[in-house]
Formats: sequence, C-alpha cells, structure tokens
Amino acid sequence: MRGDLERVLFDEPAIHRRLDEIAAQISSDFRDRELTVIAVLHGSLMFVADLLRRIPLRLKLECLSVASYHGNPQTSGEVIFKQITLPNVAGRDILILDDILDSGHTLAAVRETLETAKPQNIRVCVLLSKKKQRARNVAADYVGFEIEDEFVVGYGLDFKEHYRNLPYIGVLRKELLEEPGK
Ligand code: IMP
Ligand code: MG
Repeated sequence: MRGDLERVLFDEPAIHRRLDEIAAQISSDFRDRELTVIAVLHGSLMFVADLLRRIPLRLKLECLSVASYHGNPQTSGEVIFKQITLPNVAGRDILILDDILDSGHTLAAVRETLETAKPQNIRVCVLLSKKKQRARNVAADYVGFEIEDEFVVGYGLDFKEHYRNLPYIGVLRKELLEEPGK
C-alpha cells in the first residue's frame, strides 16, 4: 500500500505527538464538565481510539455513522445518516470528533442534526483540516493538522474503503484517484 502513496505527510510518532497536545488542551478546557464525545465513523475510528485514551476525564462515547462521499473524491452535498435514533444529548456538552474537514458538508449536517437534540454546547475536533474555500461555513475548535487540498489516506481515512489500516497519513497518487474500479 505504501507504493500507492505519493508521499507520507504524518508518520505515527508525529500523529501521536500531536494527539498528546490536543488531548491536553481538551482535558484542560473540559476539566469540570462531563463530556459526551460523538465520533463520526468510520474515518475517525483510529483518531478517536488514540485521542480518548489520552483524555483522563469522565466522558461518554456515542458514534454516528454518516456517508457524504460515495467513493468519489469530489464529495457530494448530501449527507446520509445511517442510524435511525440520535444519541440523547439534551443539556450535555458535546465534542464532535471527525477525521477531516473538507467541503464542510458532513460537519455542518452533523452539527445541525445534533442541535435539534438541544445539547448545552457543541465543540468540534478534527484530525485534519484542508486549507480551502468550503461549501459550508463550519469551523473546528481543535485541529490536528492543516493540510493542502490534496486527497489523503491512512490512519482511518479511506479511498473507496481501502487504506484505513495504514498507521500513517499520506497523499494518494493522483492517477489512482482517476482509475475506474480501483
Ligand atoms: P466534507 O467534504 O467536509 O463533508 O468531508 C466528508 C468526508 O469526506 C470526510 O469525513 C471524509 O470521510 C471524506 N474525505 C474528505 N476529504 C478526504 C480525503 O482527503 N481523504 C479521505 N477522505 C476524505
Ligand atoms: Mg471516507
């Protein structure tokens, strides 16, 4: 799989060092509150597992599964929620964890949907944020790394459901994005 990458952006030690920093910041910001973490699956799986083990707070974990990207690098505007019931977050402090902020469609939809459940407060944490003009105006309160507008895989992030198990994050070779059926 390494051969399918143009270059590695963040290796395992670099990711873990950054997670130490974000976890310390979140732990300090939420020290006297009981947090409900909402993990947006599947892309955030590795990130959530590694980050939460660094946060020594009393917290609850809920998972949402959404699809906004149907194996096409150009993300569609439609965000489909794959479960029927939303977590009960009324009156709670929520921290949404997602893999990457790209067009903003996913996080905007997740945020708006969770707002209907009347939480006390919502904060957003993403591992990666692409430097680009977004279709939706959403900001993350905590960002692992800012990256250029390139298609990346690994550490949970996929291309057509592959590469999630790479322990590092890298840029996928451009020609693979264009290959039909890859
Ligand atoms: P959005 O465009 O901000 O709605 O991002 C939607 C989703 O597209 C993210 O949660 C990822 O699952 C996926 N995505 C966006 N950019 C990338 C990328 O560079 N690599 C892998 N997945 C991506
Ligand atoms: Mg994906």
